[in-house]
Amino acid sequence: MRQINVGIIGFGTVGTGVVKLLTESRELISSRIGAELHIKYVADLDIERDRGVKIDKSVLVTDIDTVVSDPCVDIVVELIGGETIAKTAIMKAIENGKHVVTANKALLAGAGKDIFSAAARAKVDVGFEASVAGCIPIIKSIKESLSANHIHSVSGILNGTCNYILTKITSEGTVFSQALEAAQKKGYAEADPTLDIEGIDAAHKLAILTALAYGMTINLDDIYVEGIKDITPEDIKHAEHLGYRVKLLAISKFVGDAVEARVHPTMIPFDNLFASVNDSVNAVNVNGDAIGDMFFVGKGAGMMPTASAVVSDLIDISRNILSCTSQRVPLLSYCDESIKTIPVLPMDEILSRYYFRFTAVDRPGVLSTISGILGSYGISIKSVQQAEDKNERHVPIVIVTGPAREADVKQAITDINKLPITNGKAVLIRIGIESWPENSF
Ligand code: HSE
Repeated sequence: MRQINVGIIGFGTVGTGVVKLLTESRELISSRIGAELHIKYVADLDIERDRGVKIDKSVLVTDIDTVVSDPCVDIVVELIGGETIAKTAIMKAIENGKHVVTANKALLAGAGKDIFSAAARAKVDVGFEASVAGCIPIIKSIKESLSANHIHSVSGILNGTCNYILTKITSEGTVFSQALEAAQKKGYAEADPTLDIEGIDAAHKLAILTALAYGMTINLDDIYVEGIKDITPEDIKHAEHLGYRVKLLAISKFVGDAVEARVHPTMIPFDNLFASVNDSVNAVNVNGDAIGDMFFVGKGAGMMPTASAVVSDLIDISRNILSCTSQRVPLLSYCDESIKTIPVLPMDEILSRYYFRFTAVDRPGVLSTISGILGSYGISIKSVQQAEDKNERHVPIVIVTGPAREADVKQAITDINKLPITNGKAVLIRIGIESWPENSF
């Protein structure tokens, strides 16, 4: 049986999962490809630690160059993360005519252009299924299964760490720092967890999905990003009371001549499928003209789910190698000459419904002052709640609005924050989005 040689760079959590799958599911994989996927090298700085997987010690190396230069290696798998060494390794592998598989969303979102152009020139494949939403086959689905659709929107819970933290706060009232620690222990978080909790990891993934869905180039800086650090158990309780669950949602919508691309905590009605996606699970909703809505759900982080996506790319590329072809499917889902520059709508221009929590003194006229300001900016109030508290000078006032323009909301909040009757800054959480399928599955 023909042998396809794989060089893996990075023997961390995902690297270990890939070795485990290639070893333990060797026969299954061979029977699906008609060739053997052979581990030629595994490179890591630490080749001593026992990862609990069966591996021939002779394949372990500390030098990345060996992996990207050895002519025997057919496919290089980059799993070290980061943007410097990883990029150099990938570019060298491509220059040397090797196909590449990577889970590195930060690198693809930032330097994807260089990598994909080099790969196009070298006529090699680049697989990146594991870069978005763990084991959910969303890259392949957009590039292949849904290729007959004009895609209208792609929205998702794309960060397992944040979803795990928000679920823990919701169900156990855990404080944020403890919930983050638990997520890190489970191996969900990035090496630098601020990438997770500040929403940047989800933005990297959204950039990739947006480029593939609409056939466009997108700058990371054009994506509005707000993380979950300021979400408190108090706001989660108010949200539950109002019939909403708080999730970190990544939203990308094609709105005719522009695209909306944003990541922020979002209140989701209980009857929307996203509301019941918990723990480290990810979910993606794609809306297309032929399919209507399609909902994908699955584990978004962790050793084996991510390894499953990496190995699926290895299998795809191996099949191409055996058919003496590459780039049968355009790397970025559209042919190069069709990739456009589409403007990304400034956040100020988006329309959303909002949840506000103000802390204000409890005396006559306070509500009318606040509602007067909201009204002056054309913001319509849908519900108001004020908790009765005889002992406190300040009370929380929770307001839910109808659809409003972000710029008007920001201005109104600035005015209200300046009032002597309010204490501290107002909390703002966006609610759902208009075109969502509620009860439509
Ligand atoms: N840190 C990421 C997450 C891992 O929490 O979703 C998968 O990309």
